[in-house]
Amino acid sequence: MLILGIETSCDETSAAVVRDGREIVSNIILSQDVLHRQFGGVVPELACRAHEESIIGVIDNALVDAKIQLSELDAIAVVNTPGLIGALLIGVTTAKTLCMVLDIPLIAVNHLYSHIYANNLEYKNISYPAISLVVSGGHTTLFLSKSETECIALGGTIDDAAGEAFDKVSKILGLGYPGGPVIDKLAKQGNKDAVTFPRSYLEKDSFDFSFSGLKTAVLYYHRGQNLDASRLKTPHDQRIADIAASFQEAVIDVLVNKAFQASIMYDAKGILVGGGVAANSRLRQRLHERSKERNIPVYYPSLRLCTDNAAMVAGFAYKKYLEGDIAGLDIEAIP
Ligand code: KG4
Ligand code: ZN
Repeated sequence: MLILGIETSCDETSAAVVRDGREIVSNIILSQDVLHRQFGGVVPELACRAHEESIIGVIDNALVDAKIQLSELDAIAVVNTPGLIGALLIGVTTAKTLCMVLDIPLIAVNHLYSHIYANNLEYKNISYPAISLVVSGGHTTLFLSKSETECIALGGTIDDAAGEAFDKVSKILGLGYPGGPVIDKLAKQGNKDAVTFPRSYLEKDSFDFSFSGLKTAVLYYHRGQNLDASRLKTPHDQRIADIAASFQEAVIDVLVNKAFQASIMYDAKGILVGGGVAANSRLRQRLHERSKERNIPVYYPSLRLCTDNAAMVAGFAYKKYLEGDIAGLDIEAIP
């Protein structure tokens, strides 16, 4: 069965063709990073205009790469929640229109579940129940996954998402947008123990997260050090690298500790990590180390499948299709 996936929830326009929920036949991802960089974050109005301009071309490219015609598709899947409302509407309207014209089923996909499913595209033997951690620019959520499709939220961020904290701290340090990849790289040259930033665990046994206090701590520390980017010879000053590494370690400590704590509490057979921040090399290293210590498998997707992409959408949709979970053409985009 060939499903076309469409993803426009934030700042990537993506379309992919996936066979039987597993085989990625094509996966086109058009990033809007360049567009938003000058503003230091995603500008919703610009994001939806850019999706509108490029969605048809991106779908065309996904079909060309897959060497198929529109008429060969068996179903179309689209992310309808959560995300930026204007951005979601472009994908949802395009998917509905195609399904109506082609007379094929429409499958509505939750963006967060699709991030978790990115792991199922790459690993065949994941056992359940599992703990799933979605860490992206808009979300930091821990789930109990009972199966590939059934997820129960255990907790989430009460303020900034992990990726958002990376992006904002990057802006504070004068490192640009998106912040995750640049902090990841720079932190390798920094000393993670240089500054002790706060780790917020909230109440005992809470699976909620809070990163805004950490962000503010970085802001005040940076101000106090008089490290204005315009005065530095290079933003890759050692002191900036030390702050980046210390900040990154604080985020990762909380993510890793909470994910493993949940895995013990729910007797999980594995931990699945997804979303843009799952691309972070230090997070992957720490997860790998703890996985060995605790003897519980940890899964994270390859880099291209961590950040937003439509292959994970089309893959997840196949499982929903098998369960008979087909959407009506009246589905809404829900931010
Ligand atoms: O999942 P994603 O592509 O979009 C959302 O659903 O939000 O995630 C984007 C986020 C951005 O905040 C970006 O800074 C972060 O993922 N990110 C990273 C890395 N690569 C992307 N964060 C930390 N380390 C990385 N290597
Ligand atoms: Zn995402």
